[in-house]
Amino acid sequence: KDTIHVGLLGLGTVGTGVIEILHNNKESIKHKTGCEVKVTKALVHDLNKSRDLPGDKVELTDSYEDITNDEDIDVIVEVMGGIDHTLDVLLGAIENKKHIVSANKDLVAEHGEELFDAAVRNQTDLYYEASVAGGIPIIRSIVDGLSSDNIRKMMGIVNGTTNYILTKMSQDGSDFDDVLKEAQDLGFAEADPTADVDGLDAARKMTILSILGFSMPTRLDDVKLKGIRGMSTADIAYADKLGYTIKLIGIAEHDEEGIALSVEPSLLPKSHPLSSVNDEYNAVYVYGDAVGETMFYGPGAGKGPTATAVVSDLIAVVKNIQLGTNGNNYVHPQHERKLKTQAD
Ligand code: NAP
Ligand code: HSE
Repeated sequence: KDTIHVGLLGLGTVGTGVIEILHNNKESIKHKTGCEVKVTKALVHDLNKSRDLPGDKVELTDSYEDITNDEDIDVIVEVMGGIDHTLDVLLGAIENKKHIVSANKDLVAEHGEELFDAAVRNQTDLYYEASVAGGIPIIRSIVDGLSSDNIRKMMGIVNGTTNYILTKMSQDGSDFDDVLKEAQDLGFAEADPTADVDGLDAARKMTILSILGFSMPTRLDDVKLKGIRGMSTADIAYADKLGYTIKLIGIAEHDEEGIALSVEPSLLPKSHPLSSVNDEYNAVYVYGDAVGETMFYGPGAGKGPTATAVVSDLIAVVKNIQLGTNGNNYVHPQHERKLKTQAD
């Protein structure tokens, strides 16, 4: 094909970033894929909102069917968020043979299985690199780069908003609510930031990492969860005096007994490398039997990093279309679900 047509579901922080990267990197993307990649339509809530978008005109619609039923659209990029309604929209789109790229960890963590099954049945692509750790290609790394190894443990900081809040409270003594507002203005926080603050967003990401890294059909409620609500600058200053930094740490472990997952605020000695992961940055350690310890670090939220992951997925889908190799999705977990008993 000379041109691949893309429908965007959502034109907020991430959707706008997708349009910008496709515009700014148009020539290099053409070299890499052998075709033009064009967003032709975008779904929004508010058709009257003013939007500053570079490049060719994008038709805006408030009806998702304008996009999912459009025969000219090859790929749907879902960057609107939401769970139940979005699941129905994407399942319908997959039945219409659309390839899907999504940044939606809420959906993948809770309904990944239905989406994987539909994509396999329809031989369509389903990619979701941006759902975990923003601009860090952690999903590709555990699914492809480390596929020969047995991954035993994944641990780190996977939520940018809470890391930004904890960093600013620690460095400037800022007030929790003020910094949360800043994180929202910077486009890091979820539409409902309680998912960030209460650790749910991190738990969803650890669930996805466990499904993919351990090939284990993990559920969100397998994660023992505590967020950072109620954390005060006094708590952080006290930890600092004792030589510690407070970070929201996700841990997923796998051994013969099964898996154990947790997300909770943790005291790290200042000498620990995760102590110096600041602002919206994320970092994930991955431990494998043969590889030993690896660490992935980079921006975990925000327009540019997240849209980079989304457009990289889009380029992978476009290459598959050009080669006729669609449907090679990340493999569905085959192991029986086994949980380790966790201490409270
Ligand atoms: P956002 O700025 O709130 O944008 C959401 C967009 O979707 C808006 O354009 C909104 O329309 C549109 N929208 C939402 N629900 C809709 C509906 N039911 N019908 C029509 N349009 C609808 O959100 P975002 O920060 O870009 O995040 C989008 C997705 O990416 C979420 O799943 C989020 O979890 C994920 N994500 C975000 C980040 C990040 O750093 N922001 C990082 C990784 C993953 P209007 O413009 O008219 O309001
Ligand atoms: N709200 C999320 C975060 C966006 O702060 O990490 C990136 O997934």
